[in-house]
Amino acid sequence: MRFNVAILPGDGVGPEVVAEGVRVLQEVGGRFGHQFNLHYGDIGGVSIDKHGLALTPETLRMCKQCDAVYLGAVGGPKWDDPLAKVRPEDGLLGLRKGLGLFANLRPVKVFPMLVDSTNLKPDVVRGVDLIFVRELTGGLYFGKPKKRWETPRGRRAVDTLAYSEKEIERIVRVGFELARTRRKKLVSVDKANVLESSRLWRQIATEVASEYPDVELEHQLVDACSMRLIQRPADFDVLVTENMFGDILTDEASMLAGSMGMLPSASLGTRKKGTRNKGGEEACSLTPVPISSPTFGMYEPIHGSAPRRAGQNIVNPIATILSCAMMLRYSLGLPKEAEAVETATNQVLEEGYRTYDIMAEGMKKIGTMEMGELIAARI
Ligand code: IPM
Ligand code: MG
Repeated sequence: MRFNVAILPGDGVGPEVVAEGVRVLQEVGGRFGHQFNLHYGDIGGVSIDKHGLALTPETLRMCKQCDAVYLGAVGGPKWDDPLAKVRPEDGLLGLRKGLGLFANLRPVKVFPMLVDSTNLKPDVVRGVDLIFVRELTGGLYFGKPKKRWETPRGRRAVDTLAYSEKEIERIVRVGFELARTRRKKLVSVDKANVLESSRLWRQIATEVASEYPDVELEHQLVDACSMRLIQRPADFDVLVTENMFGDILTDEASMLAGSMGMLPSASLGTRKKGTRNKGGEEACSLTPVPISSPTFGMYEPIHGSAPRRAGQNIVNPIATILSCAMMLRYSLGLPKEAEAVETATNQVLEEGYRTYDIMAEGMKKIGTMEMGELIAARI
């Protein structure tokens, strides 16, 4: 089959990890007889430098015409001036919003051979298999007013956490649907003891729960949840939460898997590709499918642009490669191919190859490109 994929490498280590993801994607194409037409575009800091905008209308249009978007990372010290008019991050937020990608899935699955490579006790992280559903186009990131101004008593700034009933309902539903395909436990994370928006969130989650009697719903306050995530992470199955809570909790949760360099993500909306194969019949994939037919989406590692590590061929491309697997599964309707990528990754780790971030005694330390090549070779 033929597919169009937008490739947005971005800044810092973005181009390096995306190059390895593309290597793996092309290998999948060769092995399984698919053609992936790649459409490269600018996003973030590189786009600011070239066009004066973090996201140009051309890049957005190009993404809309593709079956999926594959992105590296954005940002860096060069564009970090707090008074700057344009910021690399605006490009990413503009894409998420502009493409209607409200559901951000971030699976955290601990590879058995890496339980000793984390900062936590092996017994705590063993068997962890959870997935975050982070609301991605609302909440504190997008609420208005959002501004900064001068007052006679000094400078002031405001951000707004706002949600509509509809926005909460659709994201909570993704959580329930996903839980249904897994261990049927959903934790809804909020700060209902303080925030009005969280009280609405909690109420709606409880209302929607009546349609999912087979799923057990628990409400957790975000502070308590952050503690439980490192106390008893294996207890969690699916978590659904507000945009910024999800941003913070997923960085924390990445430590369960040993490194930020291990965590992939998918950002989905509602645009279906109805004509494609159905996805997701396989039994033990990394990320069970909540959506039965291929959906347009954007795929990126959860880590940032890591500017200090850029250009050294050292960073871990696995988060990006596993994001490619998610793309094959959720947007391209190719579950077997997705599984091939996950199995190949697993195999390379089994063989003892490690990038610096997950290095342990007795293992073989390799760079970004070597990791990409090894995984591609095992597809
Ligand atoms: C993430 C990142 C982004 C976010 C940044 C780069 C804007 O931290 O995807 O988690 O905050 O959403
Ligand atoms: Mg983040």
